[in-house]
Amino acid sequence: LNYLEPRTRQEILECLIKGLQRLEYRGYDSAGVAIDADVEGKQIEIIRRSGKVKMLEDTIWSRQDLDLEQSFNSHVGIAHTRWATHGAPSEKNSHPQRSDLTNEFVVVHNGILTNYKDIKQFLIKKDHEFESDTDTEVIGKLLKHIHDNHPELTFRELVEQVIQQLEGAFALVCKSKKYPGQCVATRRGSPLLVGIKSKTHLATDYIPVMFSKDTDKRTKSEHRPRQPSTLSSNIKRSDTTQFCPLGEDKEVEYFFASDASAVIEHTNRVIFLEDDDVAAVSDGNLTIHRMKRTIDDTTSREIITLKMEIQQIMKGNYSSFMQKEIFEQPESVINTMRGRVNFDTEIVILGGIKDYIPEIKRCRRLLLIGCGTSYHSAIATRQILEELTELPVMVELASDFLDRNTPIFRDDVCFFISQSGETADTLMALRYCRMRGALIVGITNTVGSSICRESHCGVHINAGPEIGVASTKAYTSQFISLIMFALVMCDDRISMQPRRSEIIQGLRALPEQIKKVLELDEQVYDLAQKMYQQKSLLVMGRGYNSATCLEGALKIKELTYMHSEGIISGELKHGPLALVDKAMPVIMIVTRDPVYPKCMNALQQVTARDGRPVIICEKDDTETQKHAYLSLEVPHNVDCLQGILTVIPLQLLSYHIAVLRGCNVDCPRNLAKSVTVE
Ligand code: G6P
Repeated sequence: LNYLEPRTRQEILECLIKGLQRLEYRGYDSAGVAIDADVEGKQIEIIRRSGKVKMLEDTIWSRQDLDLEQSFNSHVGIAHTRWATHGAPSEKNSHPQRSDLTNEFVVVHNGILTNYKDIKQFLIKKDHEFESDTDTEVIGKLLKHIHDNHPELTFRELVEQVIQQLEGAFALVCKSKKYPGQCVATRRGSPLLVGIKSKTHLATDYIPVMFSKDTDKRTKSEHRPRQPSTLSSNIKRSDTTQFCPLGEDKEVEYFFASDASAVIEHTNRVIFLEDDDVAAVSDGNLTIHRMKRTIDDTTSREIITLKMEIQQIMKGNYSSFMQKEIFEQPESVINTMRGRVNFDTEIVILGGIKDYIPEIKRCRRLLLIGCGTSYHSAIATRQILEELTELPVMVELASDFLDRNTPIFRDDVCFFISQSGETADTLMALRYCRMRGALIVGITNTVGSSICRESHCGVHINAGPEIGVASTKAYTSQFISLIMFALVMCDDRISMQPRRSEIIQGLRALPEQIKKVLELDEQVYDLAQKMYQQKSLLVMGRGYNSATCLEGALKIKELTYMHSEGIISGELKHGPLALVDKAMPVIMIVTRDPVYPKCMNALQQVTARDGRPVIICEKDDTETQKHAYLSLEVPHNVDCLQGILTVIPLQLLSYHIAVLRGCNVDCPRNLAKSVTVE
């Protein structure tokens, strides 16, 4: 919405396209925009394309009929980049979806509607004709249907009526030629924020929430209040509670987006909307409404100031975000430890959970829950957590954990690990545990994300924005965050001080050692050249390096589309050894830790079957290298941190193989960075 100064259609389209490009990592199979076709906003133009945002951009600029010079004092434009859930990627299935052929109501949607078939049947009976295979289309048509029957409703009230009918997850932004100059956005389950750009200082730090009606419905109150200051290290908070309407002078511009990277070049002032908030912009003013008041509802939404910098979401001199993020790791691990680990006094403080440590120490067990790479960070640190906390530690894939209806108790402590803080499976598992009274600890990289906000306490990993779909620096920072937690848990145990001290000094050495590992880049490139035409690749290791195998294999498969399997080498003789022959590419991780002799056994089992393993080992380990076809040497660190150094060559390898195979490194096919559907 532009109230700052007149903008041309060209500028408006550039703004929408740039926003989509910033969000493209969340989905990239088709894209579209809807803009005002005339200055009054009484007609709407929709432009959509299957394929990446670039294709949409080319289509837009090739359109001769768009008057790019036309100037607007106020304008509503919406745009979307899609990751297909219902309906194949195609133009007709891309968003914005519309109510009818005249584009009366247009809508963009993230999430999945679970009851769309029932709504669709109802609307078909009412003579609405559907054009797409999407679940989203019912929203546009429902808006029109209710509007036709209740033309007296305001746009906001209309959207409130519609979302009452919806089940499932959604973040929606709606626009209508019946309500020119207005935009209504709402969410349930999928993330949505409002960016506010103002020429002058905003008169308020809070927007009041207005309730359409109070009801007796109360949400279950919990036995633990959420600590207000947790997970907020990147947020500058203000104490002002006074409210003055925004934009009295129409000097405000609003952006709705599913994450901050889309708006950060315009503003760092944002409001994270809560489930069932309906945010409406009309005549230059923003209001936030809720249909029902519940006991937990706060009566305002804070405008927070993000510290994210635009450079953090730019590629700089790197060829891809993934490459940049791999090479950022010497700094990102420092940022994770900054202000938390004192290497001289050996004191470790995690501000976001320190008040909960006594309760955590009394717990029955620790559960670490996540998906994909985040799950692997839990596997990587389980052993040291068991050792330093002396508690049972369960590591769970969020989806499987939910499928099993796993028993959870009030004295469980559940960690939810998620780079984005929005992964639907992880979020659902969080809510499942929270309802059962467990203490919820969030480990995320995204300030203001759903997992942050729904946790009792937590740790921001502070790795900086991660844009490449395949996670790299978030993994190493999650790994370190969990190690820091383990160190906090044993800081009063005299018997554990030598071990603690060894690990803290290991952490101190890490950034320089990561730089050394990154120097292997050329060697890894040579290896990639030898391997990139293979069909399959096995990655083997055990003990502290088990997670490196799983994570390395995941990187290979998601980026290069080669088959790859991470094999915990204790299991080698129970099946995978049958795969090994002279031709099968094998990578083995062998470091000087307590399972070194067992790794050597596995190595011999492989070489005895004519296998020709590439070995990732410690510097100057000539003994191991004797058995290697090729080797990559990483510096020595303490056993429980070695996995950070051994995973990086595999990150580099997957990157180089992907480039050699002509794959899109940042946007692997069929995948999305932030999977906000179950
Ligand atoms: C997707 C991404 C992975 C990521 C996983 C978990 O599958 O492609 O890179 O590891 O989600 O995401 P999270 O944001 O919860 O860490």
